[in-house]
Formats: sequence, structure tokens, C-alpha cells
Amino acid sequence: MNKQEVILCEELNGALTGAIEKCPHDRLFILTDEHTHRLCLPLLADIKALKEATEITIGAEDVHKTLETLASVWQALSQQGATRHSLLINLGGGMVTDLGGFAAATFKRGIAYINIPTTLLAMVDASVGGKTGINFNGLKNEIGAFAPAASVLLETEFLRSLDAHNFFSGYAEMLKHGLISTPQHLDELLAFDTECPDYRLLKEMVGHSVQVKEDIVAQDPQEHGIRKALNLGHTIGHAFESLALAENRPVLHGYAVAWGLVCELYLSHLKTGFPKERMRQVVQFVRQNYGAFSFICKQYDRLYFTCKQYDRLYELMLHDKKNTAGIINFTLLKDVGDICLNQTADKDTIFETLDFYRECMGL
Ligand code: GLY
Repeated sequence: MNKQEVILCEELNGALTGAIEKCPHDRLFILTDEHTHRLCLPLLADIKALKEATEITIGAEDVHKTLETLASVWQALSQQGATRHSLLINLGGGMVTDLGGFAAATFKRGIAYINIPTTLLAMVDASVGGKTGINFNGLKNEIGAFAPAASVLLETEFLRSLDAHNFFSGYAEMLKHGLISTPQHLDELLAFDTECPDYRLLKEMVGHSVQVKEDIVAQDPQEHGIRKALNLGHTIGHAFESLALAENRPVLHGYAVAWGLVCELYLSHLKTGFPKERMRQVVQFVRQNYGAFSFICKQYDRLYFTCKQYDRLYELMLHDKKNTAGIINFTLLKDVGDICLNQTADKDTIFETLDFYRECMGL
């Protein structure tokens, strides 16, 4: 996989003009969703290099991350004369950069593309590292390809208008990067004033967070080894996310990851000795800022509770695409930055972890 260029922009206009110049092309396309078409594209109106671009707009949010939407992008490219030498710019959150990246990776066996992520989640995670794809058969990111963008341009000014939910959704991936990197980075994330953000400091932290991901992806672009570190919190997190979707109460990806981090830090404490005090700090941050996934529980007797959804969550974990031969695969930690790949846990231990989650989240 080619290394992609990730630029923390001082000024998007110049960075985008430079990125476009580095990709010689015959035709230029820009993909947005309904929201970024209205709110973000006008901010690029002065960029000369974009004047020739053909706009393609798709529906917003994860429900549109489908084969039908993908086909509509292929169709638009085809009808508007795209060739193998055309260039696509994806302007949007993770849905747009994932789907647009996959459209680019597959159209005429692959055309070049540039990502301009507009949400925190897309800046620190989705748009970086070359994973592209769509949802299929009710499963998230089931179909896709590794195909890095030529350039990823991070313009943190977009974050000033991000709502709190989308802010915290992206921040969960930053917490994950803190946990798998250094105590200093984790501490600065836990101490950040999220109510009254200092955007200059946030920009620095975004740069730091993306660097953690880039370093890992550079070592293992296709997730045969160390890239699995980026799955911390995601085995149980994806199960929460899929269950919430199936129960018609969808949650943002980062919320599910934050709850997954609570569970997987407890599992790390049980299985690999992750320090209790560190776990407590992260649990407290998540409880304060993310609320909790609620369970339907039955009380069988005074001492023993059971929750209907434990079995559903366990089933979803068994179907996680990171597993091999039906064995649930976890990334756990011995300590901050001390990563243990390819860990597993039996059903009883996973249920104990869910009990811990309910207790510490006050459910
Ligand atoms: N989102 C995890 C990864 O890019 O590997």
C-alpha cells in the first residue's frame, strides 16, 4: 500500500491546491453528502482548482452507506465522463470518506482520491489509513478494500461547528489512541476542557492522535499484526453498535467505542493486569460524557440479575470480522501503550465484563 500524505492544514486553500497539483488528472469530481454540500462546500468556493470540479451529492448518515449509494456514485462518474485518470475529492464525515474511497478504489479498477474530513471521527480515524467500504447485509463495513487516499487534508476549523454528539463520537477514537500510545497523551485527553474547547490545543491533539494512527498503519497497512491495536474497544463496541441498530435506537460509532473501551479495559484488568486506577480514570470520563447503553434486565432473585441482551451481544461478538475460526479476538492492554494482540475470553468472562459495565455506569 502506498503511504498517504496527511496534512494538518494551516490553510486549506493552499493545501488542497497543492494536493490536486500532485495528482495529474483529466477530470475532477467532488463528493459531498447533503449536509457537507450545504455547510462545507461553500467554504471552498474561492479555491481556483475546484472551479472545474463536477459535484456529486449523496444522502447523509450511515443509512446511506449502501450498495445503492455506491452504484449511484459509479453511475455519476461514468455519466460525467470520468476515466482512469480522473481525481475524486471526498468532502465529509466517515460515511463520505469510506464510501467515496471505495468508489474511487473500484471505478475502472481504481482512480486517485483526496479526503477532506469534516468531522472529528473522520479526521482522527476514518479518513486516515486506507480502509474504505460500505455496509452490507446489516453488517457494518462488510464490503470494502484497503486503498489509501493520495492526500488527507485535516482542516480543524470545521470542528468549530460540530455538535457535541459528533464531537464526543470522534473523541472516543482519540481516547483509544491515547490508551495505545503514551500516558502523557492519554492524560492530556482526559484533562481537556470539552465544555469550553481550546481549539488551538484541540488542533495539536488531533495532530498527535493522527500521528499515533499513521505510525501504526505504516508498520502494518493491511492489519496482519500491530494494526489490530486500533481495534481496542471495538470488539464489544461494535456489538453495542449493531445491537442498538437492530433495536432501532442507533448510536454514533464513537459512543459504542467509548462503552467498548470501558468493557475492554476491565477485560484488560482481568486478563493482562491493566492498572485499576487508570481504568477508573477512563471509566469516569466515559460515564460523565457518554451516558450509557441501557439494558433490559430481569431480576431472578435478590442476588442474581440477568440481561436479555447479553446473549445477543455475545452472538454479535462471535460474528465480528476480526475473529478467526469463531474465536472472539480482543486487543487488550497491560498498561497504557503496552499492547497485547490476539487475546480471547470465554463467555462467562465476557458476561462478567458486561456486569462490570452496568455497575460502573450506574445501570
Ligand atoms: N479504524 C481502525 C483502523 O483503521 O484500522
